[in-house]
Amino acid sequence: MTVKEPKSKDEETAEIMNLEPEEIDIKDLEGVGATIASKLKNAGYMDIISLATANALEVAELCEIGEPTAKKIITQAREAAKMNFLSGLEFEDKRKAVQRISTGSQAFDILLGGGVETQSITECYGEFGSGKSQLAFQLAVNVQLPKEKGGLEGHAIWIDTEGTFRPARIEQIAAIKGVDPKETLQNIRIGRAYSADHQILLVDKIPDLVNKDSKIKLVVVDSMMALFRAEYVGRGTLADRQQKVNVLLHKLQRLADRYNLAIYITNQVMARPDMMFGDPTAPVGGHIIGHVATYRIYLRKGKKGLRVARLVDSPSLPEGEATFQIDANGISDAEEEGKKK
Ligand code: GTP
Ligand code: MG
Repeated sequence: MTVKEPKSKDEETAEIMNLEPEEIDIKDLEGVGATIASKLKNAGYMDIISLATANALEVAELCEIGEPTAKKIITQAREAAKMNFLSGLEFEDKRKAVQRISTGSQAFDILLGGGVETQSITECYGEFGSGKSQLAFQLAVNVQLPKEKGGLEGHAIWIDTEGTFRPARIEQIAAIKGVDPKETLQNIRIGRAYSADHQILLVDKIPDLVNKDSKIKLVVVDSMMALFRAEYVGRGTLADRQQKVNVLLHKLQRLADRYNLAIYITNQVMARPDMMFGDPTAPVGGHIIGHVATYRIYLRKGKKGLRVARLVDSPSLPEGEATFQIDANGISDAEEEGKKK
């Protein structure tokens, strides 16, 4: 009988380094036992990437461990995460894989540089009824269209945190686009989140879903903040909430990069009675989302059922506005008004 030699620490580390960061559990890191692993997870450090990008002092405080231990864990996470640099050419190649999904309106697409982009998070914020969910319905159908019609022949994942996903709306928009309504619906995987933690768990399932269905090209989170906002009330828990949201957003960005996915998240606005000038509204979640989302769109109602989208933040596109309309047919160009200001 042969007895299996126990693995040396080096062998174990080598095995860990050969895995993708998503495949490594934080408890596999040296010095992280079950207790520290659960403390880390409770503090929102669910995976290697969130740990690799964390601040030692913050980890030490949140997990009630010594700062040197926190530093050691973070260093290991960084190594395991292979936080390597790409050459400019490699980076360019990766950017070449970026694809775009049409919004249904040419003017809106132009504003976004051709549509909603893969490898990016696009956040849409605005008041109730401004059309944030309608854009999600449209994208979930459009992603399935052939390329010449603004799609990617892809499938979609929809994380519904407010119970507002409507199969009938998908079928209606699909019929308008001339594609089979039932098949279109079948190509969307819907996860209803009942709590903020549940929402995080559903996001953690995305790699599984993409591995099973490589056609997935779009992930909708409608809405990003509703459950967090409801669960974390009062200022005492705000830092905790923002920390969790931050981790979640970084997870989404990493998924976008790794699987070439377009991530579309919606967000409500909160009234800002203290603001005297400008638009007295601000997206819930504030700067946290702003720093992670690549594209931020502010949606507002215009005259006669029209909608105005303003591109608030983008790495390479100028700020600007586009007017479009939402009706029973979904999103389309505004009939009379100028297409782009
Ligand atoms: P909240 O989720 O409440 O924050 O709002 P939202 O921004 O997600 O609003 P949503 O995208 O659901 O927009 C709904 C609005 O779209 C309605 O109030 C209508 O003004 C407009 N709309 C126009 N035609 C239709 C239609 O045929 N069906 C639906 N559902 N909405 C339409
Ligand atoms: Mg909505």
